[in-house]
Amino acid sequence: MEGTAITAEMLQQLYQTDAQPQAERAADVQSNMQSNAANAALQWQQMLQQMQMGEEYEDPPRQNQNPLTGSLYTPRFYYLLEKRQRLPAWAARQEFLKLMQNNQVLVLVGEPGSGKTTQLPQILLDAGYHVQLGQVRAICCVQPTQLATISAATRICEELEVQVGSFVGHVTRFEDRTSGDSLLRFVTEEALFREALEDPLLERYSVIILDEVQQRTCEMDVLLGILKMVMQRRPELKLLLLSSSEEVRKVQSHFEGAPLLKVPHRTFAVEVLHTQEAERDYLKAAVRTTIQVHTTEPDGDILLFLPHEDEIDLACQMLRKEAVHLPVHLDARPIYVGLPLMDIQRAFEPAPSRMGAVKSVRKVVVATNVAETSLCIDHIVYVIDTGLVKQRAYNPRTRVEAQIVTPISKTSALQRARLAARTKPGKCFRLYPERAQSEWPPMIQPEIKRSNLTTMVLMLKRLGFDDVVHFDFVDPPSPEALMRALQTLNNLGCIDNNGNITEVGNQASRLPVDPQIAKMLIEGPKHRCSNEALSIAAMLSSLPVWLRPNDAFRAANEAKARFAHMDGDHLTLLNVFHAYKQQIQDGHDAVRFCAENFISIRAMRHAEVARDSLKVIMESIGLQMVSTDFQDKEYYPNIRRCLVSGFFTQVACLESEKRAAYSMLREGQEVILHPSTSLGHRPEWLVFHELCLSSKLFIKTGTQIKPEWLFDIAPSGYFDAQRINEKCSARAKLDRLLTRRFSQG
Ligand code: CDP
Ligand code: MG
Repeated sequence: MEGTAITAEMLQQLYQTDAQPQAERAADVQSNMQSNAANAALQWQQMLQQMQMGEEYEDPPRQNQNPLTGSLYTPRFYYLLEKRQRLPAWAARQEFLKLMQNNQVLVLVGEPGSGKTTQLPQILLDAGYHVQLGQVRAICCVQPTQLATISAATRICEELEVQVGSFVGHVTRFEDRTSGDSLLRFVTEEALFREALEDPLLERYSVIILDEVQQRTCEMDVLLGILKMVMQRRPELKLLLLSSSEEVRKVQSHFEGAPLLKVPHRTFAVEVLHTQEAERDYLKAAVRTTIQVHTTEPDGDILLFLPHEDEIDLACQMLRKEAVHLPVHLDARPIYVGLPLMDIQRAFEPAPSRMGAVKSVRKVVVATNVAETSLCIDHIVYVIDTGLVKQRAYNPRTRVEAQIVTPISKTSALQRARLAARTKPGKCFRLYPERAQSEWPPMIQPEIKRSNLTTMVLMLKRLGFDDVVHFDFVDPPSPEALMRALQTLNNLGCIDNNGNITEVGNQASRLPVDPQIAKMLIEGPKHRCSNEALSIAAMLSSLPVWLRPNDAFRAANEAKARFAHMDGDHLTLLNVFHAYKQQIQDGHDAVRFCAENFISIRAMRHAEVARDSLKVIMESIGLQMVSTDFQDKEYYPNIRRCLVSGFFTQVACLESEKRAAYSMLREGQEVILHPSTSLGHRPEWLVFHELCLSSKLFIKTGTQIKPEWLFDIAPSGYFDAQRINEKCSARAKLDRLLTRRFSQG
């Protein structure tokens, strides 16, 4: 096996674990589709075929009855239909369907808001793409974020007048809201990976749509590699790649010969204005500029880009406060990943016209870069661009992974400006001087070049791609990052010394969490704490738990202290989870409990869902759910040992108590215990969940451990003195400890 050319035989080998014959698998897929849905879909298809006898594609007849549900359409259906039919994607459907029919892969480029995400799947349904080789199959729409996944599915359900989870549904990390009836399945990238584990050729689908491919997320890039091979095995499978920018040549050339269709879109002129100098405090400058635009510019909504979620909340507060006395009302609405769907929907709604003295209200949407392409808000006339974005960064040498704020790319800057000119001529206010752009990258660097690849590599191994170094990547990741990932998996026991996936690796790949957390869950029964490990895993996979309102800082800190466990932040999280469940069990108001204690109710609900979903998988892979008796003095030590079993690669040793400075054992990197920790003292040894980079490199979520556990739990030799960095005091300490143990026999 040399180079990157993949043959059908190789594919056969890659997927050789999949022994079930194709016909049988197809029958499984078929029987999964509930018969009533299948019948309805087939009848619909027959009707469509009768209508489409001519050469040209014709739209199916619109009757007053919904063919999916049998109900009569409401007036809102026709109202939305009329709006949909005016979208550029709708106008391009003839050409689009012709290209779909004649090609296996199609790249389609269209400006944000042209109807790619919401209209094309419906156009494919209307054209009967849900029936393939005489079977009912689903159309898959892959989105880059959970937010985009749920938002798109919800919108289409509204347009089609069906319930979410019936004919249209969505699958995210811990939640599956689809049924056997679902003809349109909106899934996250990660969810499609998990489906591929069960169904390697993705036979439940007739068409797979990858949305926002220009974003080049790490997961999307790996999916592009996998799908290229699946396509060779399944010539009938169609792949549609959607992009909001023309910078997709790399992706297009990955699929040789794939045509590119550009959806024509009418845009207006946009006037771009720069500041003279860079703004020192971009948040203040952004709020000031927004108010200025609001008071001096004619009608039209404003879109403001900020990199941080909490800055967005803060900016909304500041704007509301500043605008109280202004004659025209200002309605500030946030958009970022992690907000509830209802709030997102609100940002889409037009600003309400007010009755009485004030005629109009101006809407200001304050957003992260999700509003750059994935979620397109109508009626924006003014864009205020800070020129910043928060993105993933990873250094495989120090193993430091962080979200950092960096300048956007030139393409992004252009894209943001264009959003001001979708409905009429607009203006873009850039809070940076024109010359600043000369140093910016032309395009965003593919995420795969700056990501921790541990999870991805485990997935590929599990799918049978043994030689990950020669995998058909659109852009190959750095060899160092690949080596790091293989090393970590080997240390965790997920792959053996020959690089083959182990039983532990198989189990870990089934759990939708990082391999370290997965390992901790797998070791739970051994340490008699699988229930507690599960609760901690759920909390670690949730949203930030602690609310920190600006006007109640002290009260929030006091509340947090009530749950603090002196041995560490993981145990504090466990306390919070237990307290929350106790409230519910006792019939108390959990919402009130959370509000009183400055705990995010959304984080808690998210953790509950995650816990339930992980528990089902743990049981299905044969892990026993056990606990140590709470009165037993080993109750907490067992949990701490279990943490080490997953996170022994993330252990730090105290170097300076005064500065709360620690060193990472292998890398020698200095890291500081974050002031938000619930640890009351500075323990000599810590296991930690993550590092975060701001003014310094901080340890977030750390728990005290005993050094002797390291030898009992980690693979033998992992903590040998010569493998510890020379700069680390841990080297001598562990050496002494080992000698003592040795002499004691
Ligand atoms: O994917 P693309 O950016 O090409 O467009 P889209 O997301 O399909 O959106 C098409 C139109 O539907 C736009 O005018 C959106 O503003 C609108 N839309 C909406 O009103 N509410 C949603 N939840 C999603 C889209
Ligand atoms: Mg879209």
